[in-house]
Amino acid sequence: MILHNQIGFLYQTALKPILFQLDPEKVHNLFTNIGRLLGTNSLTRSSTKFLFNYKNKKLEQNILGISFSNPVGLSAGFDKDANLINILDTVGFGFMQVGSITNLAYEGNPAPRLYRLKKSMGLVVYYGLKNIGVDKIIQKLKKKKKKDFPLSISIAKTNCKNTSTTEGGIEDYYQCVKKVVEENIGDFYTINISCPNTFGGEPFTTPEKLEALLQKLTSLNVTKPIFVKMPLELAWNDFDSLLQIVVKYKLAGVIIANLVKDRNNTLIVDKIPQNIKGGISGKPTFELSNTKIAKTYVKYGKKLVIIGVGGIFSAEDAYKKIKLGASLVQLITGMIFEGPQLIGQINKGLVELIKKDGFSNISEAIGIDARNYISK
Ligand SMILES: Cc1cc2nc3c(=O)[nH]c(=O)nc-3n(C[C@H](O)[C@H](O)[C@H](O)COP(=O)(O)O)c2cc1C
Repeated sequence: MILHNQIGFLYQTALKPILFQLDPEKVHNLFTNIGRLLGTNSLTRSSTKFLFNYKNKKLEQNILGISFSNPVGLSAGFDKDANLINILDTVGFGFMQVGSITNLAYEGNPAPRLYRLKKSMGLVVYYGLKNIGVDKIIQKLKKKKKKDFPLSISIAKTNCKNTSTTEGGIEDYYQCVKKVVEENIGDFYTINISCPNTFGGEPFTTPEKLEALLQKLTSLNVTKPIFVKMPLELAWNDFDSLLQIVVKYKLAGVIIANLVKDRNNTLIVDKIPQNIKGGISGKPTFELSNTKIAKTYVKYGKKLVIIGVGGIFSAEDAYKKIKLGASLVQLITGMIFEGPQLIGQINKGLVELIKKDGFSNISEAIGIDARNYISK
């Protein structure tokens, strides 16, 4: 039984008006706790599945040797401490990303760390890589129940003074990747070089420093696919110079992209108070990420798998990113604004959209609009 529309209506009319009056971080923690509890036993897992899940063979893909039941994943930052690993598959996600995690634990930047931009349909995010650290997270990941639900571990540099030199930063990433590789945890890894809210900024977003980092990390002979989470607002030439390094080190792909930093972005229509720091998610990221996805696909479509993220609120939004070159997509903000049934709604909508275009599988749509889009 699929009750997505009814759940969506209830979320919009009854739940969201109350939740959006409360502190956003408290609401996030509440949902994380509910999700963690729901994941603890088979009865609550199957009830969640009954209410939310949607399955269709047309959405299944095998990418880099990993089977995805659908292309919609949870993006990094919602499940920082691996609390939701036993529930997200039942909500309808095709894969998830834990983290970003870091080698050492960090309690997070001072509050406020999350702020809603209701009119702009975005969030201001200032967590600064809050997480319990790789050692504890590995122990939690060992308890993942559904082994065939793909999980990516997003790894960033510990947010502290000691890691703010290039050498210190590389060593910190290295230790963290080494631990997850040695424990053989996760299906693929993401190196997050684009968190805007950290000590020392984003030092690995120049080609020289990214190269030094990847040289060290690839010395670990990681057999699982590695992605790089890209910064969103670099000019194309600078972005491309990072892609060249990713290709040079034969990584599997890129996630395009992270948060908006530029507050002059014309899609930010809410007035943001002075004390609210951080990067911006949601709709203000949508077109910027689409353009980078299309350009990356046209130049590197045969060499890099692209995961598209930023401002997905509907099946049409997800399909657009896929047609521009994304093999998989991820989201967070859309789910917060529209409700947890959005994942099933997107998947159901994607099936209708690919049928309309005459495709028998979602993979046939990847990149078909990329060339036209960038030549406009
Ligand atoms: C609350 C929150 C926390 C985030 N934390 C991370 C993070 O730790 N690592 C990361 O790579 N991206 C992080 N992001 C960025 C998202 O993964 C994503 O790239 C961005 O929000 C755009 O997607 P969306 O519009 O669907 O939210 C975070 C985003 C949000 C909203």
